[in-house]
Amino acid sequence: MSKIKIMSIFGTRPEAIKMAPVVKELEKHEGIESIVCVTAQHREMLDQVLDLFQIKPDYDLNIMKAGQTLSEITSRVLLGLEEVIKEVRPHMVLVHGDTTTTFAGALAAFYQQVKVGHVEAGLRSGNIYSPYPEEANRMLTGRLTHLHFAPTQGNKKNLLAEGIKEENIVLTGNTVIDALLQVIKEDYRFENELLNQLDYKNKKIILMTAHRRENLGEPMMNIFSAIREVADQNEEIEIVFPIHLNPQVRNLAAEILGNTKNIHIIEPLDYEPFANLQGRSYMLLTDSGGIQEEAPALGKPVLVLRTETERPEAVEAGTVKIAGVEKNRIVALMEELIHDKVAYDQMANAVNPYGDGKAAQRTVAAILEYFKDENC
Ligand code: UD1
Ligand code: UDP
Repeated sequence: MSKIKIMSIFGTRPEAIKMAPVVKELEKHEGIESIVCVTAQHREMLDQVLDLFQIKPDYDLNIMKAGQTLSEITSRVLLGLEEVIKEVRPHMVLVHGDTTTTFAGALAAFYQQVKVGHVEAGLRSGNIYSPYPEEANRMLTGRLTHLHFAPTQGNKKNLLAEGIKEENIVLTGNTVIDALLQVIKEDYRFENELLNQLDYKNKKIILMTAHRRENLGEPMMNIFSAIREVADQNEEIEIVFPIHLNPQVRNLAAEILGNTKNIHIIEPLDYEPFANLQGRSYMLLTDSGGIQEEAPALGKPVLVLRTETERPEAVEAGTVKIAGVEKNRIVALMEELIHDKVAYDQMANAVNPYGDGKAAQRTVAAILEYFKDENC
């Protein structure tokens, strides 16, 4: 019997972090031939993750362009994958989450009548324009998927409500926890000396990120103005902002947050230092999806710089609050967490609704089960 060919397709930083444990698990099984195709929707931010987890892609579409539009990404991924899928003829393509690579990857597989497995399936905000375009990407990917790997019970419920059959859904936990557990180290030393020198004992270190497309423009201006005001008024805080490589984010941040003595804008951190910095921070401010899953596992309060979330589990557990994108509310919530110890302690609980570090194992076991009767 020949091997089951599984082709993992991903292209951005978060997909790489969360697919790395799955790729490593696929590689362990004799009956599986694991093929990796990166679209490189991101370049530098993707490559650092590939290096960390020692993943050498078999195919690299290298599509990233500065300031790329959604149509450009979609069409370049579709055209590039057509050739690769024709050549490899995998039994199943695995895509992850909700990026444009995810949706275009699933569509390219569908066009070749290749089965799709969707890792991190079933997250829903309920608003097709927020996050944009991710909510549509994951819903559309779900329509093309044969095997849905749902991180939580809530994600599974969302899929059932959309008419997906229960036998096609596998509850796995989120592979983000698998990855996180591999990189957190008590005695971690940063390469960036600024991060070693921060006074973690006496100052409140606030780690922030911002990049969402629907926040570009006025919402991001409000967010940055709020953070600037709180930084100016509180000498005891130090804000660290590893900034996304998107030039639109960088220009606005330089304008509003630049030249402030307790705001440190630094280049994006590699995953290992970023995860360890989360572990040492006082709290997080973010519009990221993955950080809403990681920081609760580390017991760090998170203010989400968005109007909604598709990750309600940690909000229900009390570690995450939706701060929105209005200046006054963000200022008020930050001030509360900085000065009100009771409010802070109520949020600083390690909760882990997202997994136990075995999501990749469950994912691959389900794939083997799915193909067990097929003569590959
Ligand atoms: C993409 C995903 C988003 C995900 C995010 C993770 C889409 C539509 N968006 O958003 O869901 O949350 O990745 O970070 O799929 N850039 C570089 N080098 C890099 C990466 C980005 O220079 O390594 C710059 C480029 O100018 C690029 C821009 O950032 O054009 C935006 O990248 P893009 O992938 O289009 O969107 P993101 O905002 O990163
Ligand atoms: N991250 C990183 N370096 C950074 C910022 C974030 O490695 O400078 C990691 C973070 O730990 C998380 C992931 O990148 O695992 C989140 O990616 P991002 O915020 O770009 O995307 P999202 O999760 O919103 O899709």
